[in-house]
Amino acid sequence: MFEVTGRDGLARLGVLETRHGRVTTPALLPVVNPNRPIIPPRDLASRFGAQILITNAYILGKSALREPALQQGVHKLLDFPGAVMTDSGAFQSHVYGDVDVTNAQVIEFQKAMGSDLGTMLDLFSEPEHDHARARADVDETIRRAAEANGLKGEMALVGAVQGGIHEDLRERCAREVSALDISVAAIGGVVPLMESYRFRDLARVIVASKKGLDPSKPVHLFGAGHPLVFPLAALLGCDLFDSAAYAKYARDGRMLFPDGTRHAAELQDSGCLCPVCSGHSMAEIAKDTTLLAEHNLHVSFGAVREVRRAIASEELWELVERRSRAHPALLDALFELRRHNDFLEESEPLSRRGALYYVGPETAHRPILHRYRRRLEERYSAPPAKGLLVLPEGGRPFSERYRSVVERVLKEADVHAVVKSLWGPVPLELDHLWPNAQSVVPDRLDPEALEAAEVFFRGWAAGAGYPFGLLWEGESTLDELKVAAPGFRNVDWNLLRVRATADFQFGRGAADALLEGKVSYVVSKNTGKIRNVIVDGEHVLSLRAEDGLFTLKAAGARRLVKAFALPRLRVVVDPDAVPFHREGKNVFAKFVMDADPQLRPGDEVAVVSPEDDLCAVAQAAMNRREMLAFKRGVAAHVREGVPLPPSAPPR
Ligand code: GUN
Ligand code: ZN
Repeated sequence: MFEVTGRDGLARLGVLETRHGRVTTPALLPVVNPNRPIIPPRDLASRFGAQILITNAYILGKSALREPALQQGVHKLLDFPGAVMTDSGAFQSHVYGDVDVTNAQVIEFQKAMGSDLGTMLDLFSEPEHDHARARADVDETIRRAAEANGLKGEMALVGAVQGGIHEDLRERCAREVSALDISVAAIGGVVPLMESYRFRDLARVIVASKKGLDPSKPVHLFGAGHPLVFPLAALLGCDLFDSAAYAKYARDGRMLFPDGTRHAAELQDSGCLCPVCSGHSMAEIAKDTTLLAEHNLHVSFGAVREVRRAIASEELWELVERRSRAHPALLDALFELRRHNDFLEESEPLSRRGALYYVGPETAHRPILHRYRRRLEERYSAPPAKGLLVLPEGGRPFSERYRSVVERVLKEADVHAVVKSLWGPVPLELDHLWPNAQSVVPDRLDPEALEAAEVFFRGWAAGAGYPFGLLWEGESTLDELKVAAPGFRNVDWNLLRVRATADFQFGRGAADALLEGKVSYVVSKNTGKIRNVIVDGEHVLSLRAEDGLFTLKAAGARRLVKAFALPRLRVVVDPDAVPFHREGKNVFAKFVMDADPQLRPGDEVAVVSPEDDLCAVAQAAMNRREMLAFKRGVAAHVREGVPLPPSAPPR
């Protein structure tokens, strides 16, 4: 069983339960060659904190250790107290061309030696396999996955995803294999991509596979042993990695680092603080395979822990962008990701904790900013005016920085003010939305980022319907505006903010539904900012200071449910669960029957019965795909239960 305990986009923190204990994910599985372990498996547990390792059933089965493995079991044979995953020999068929076991034989052997996670014998799809050949690989892999599923008994099964670099085949293989009763879905056939630093293809393959995979299952990336790829792979939703690299590179005299590989003999100082590097001279390390392997493992485990920290603090995109500078091929992979923004965006939270830091010109293409720009086009209605005052990127919050300019202009020209920010256009009344106010960007902007800002701005402005836009360049601009848009604008900024935020957050038309009636505000004494929105005496919305978005109140949810048809803004729950939500209990994924496909983690939702009766207001923790797939975990955190009105007959 796999439980997700934290997330950052597609990346997650989780716990995988096995017959030999719980495994915290993302996890690194050191590869143990049973015939020549460099580091004793017991030490992997005690000195490196390994909760799980991986060894090869095919190699074991062909060696003199076959009988001892069957008699003692694989844990005793290796002397490892934690979980043991076994692989099947598919990789050996890639190396040697063929293997002389069947899928059924290798499954039976793994069962017999007590493997905690046993792998089917998949057909290794080489990157150069054309579509027809890769399709045959996939058909056979799916057939064997079903066969293994029938034979697995009590053993937790690892199903493999093949399909070479063909995205449609990857997605289909992933869908069909993960629909079986497998415990882990493993993305295979990628070692040749990693060995030749084809990280862009690797990213494409992982994304295509993730599109088909059941999101509730943990994902293993076969053969991912270099710390360089951990952040990227985790970002795309991989939970388990296996490393033979620590040993292979050690035999070759090479040291792993989070940013690449170096020859030990060429170093005077490793710059590393691991126990090996702290306790030995470089000369000693360079000639000792065991020391090299230990350093490599320390660095690899450290890199996985760094990924975990980044997920927990919702900073994994930042880590990936920074790390992509370590190798140009990683930068190519990062560039590839924007092609998949529509898919990646589905798992992005509504906002993140803390500020958004500019790392490079790629930052503007993160899926969360892609969504900002899309929602601006689809949901935001620009107020009528004779033209646009375009303000340049600069200090935030923009409304404070440009307050005096805007006040002066609006007295003499009928224009709407929009900032041409690096992330996309920011209408001034939306400048408080995360990350518009919570961004740290350099003073000096690079041309690529500026060019992108220009493209984003033009894309939006073309659809916004203003006859012209004029960039603020100082007093002369005011003179021009007076001529081009004579008049003035008296703006109720509070109302404009509330309306724009409501439409942006809940969809076009939400402001009309939420604010119909007499609107008043509760304003913060300290900041002068709106806290609560009251309509006809009912508290419908609260504005959050952290991300500038609304918390929905029951009265607000009632208005939205009336205005928008099912399933918009809804999570539909099993009738049996309704009374619990009315009392304020959380929504568990198991009881979700349907949900709005537009919902994202962090969104405010109306929890309704199948008859569309409102029973609670909640904050989604998952998107629809996840809510329908997970059998465990909270789908939405209930903020407020909605009791049955006393007069209504019980239903
Ligand atoms: N180890 C590395 N690549 C693979 C793969 O594609 N399949 C299996 N089963 N093991 C692997
Ligand atoms: Zn070291």
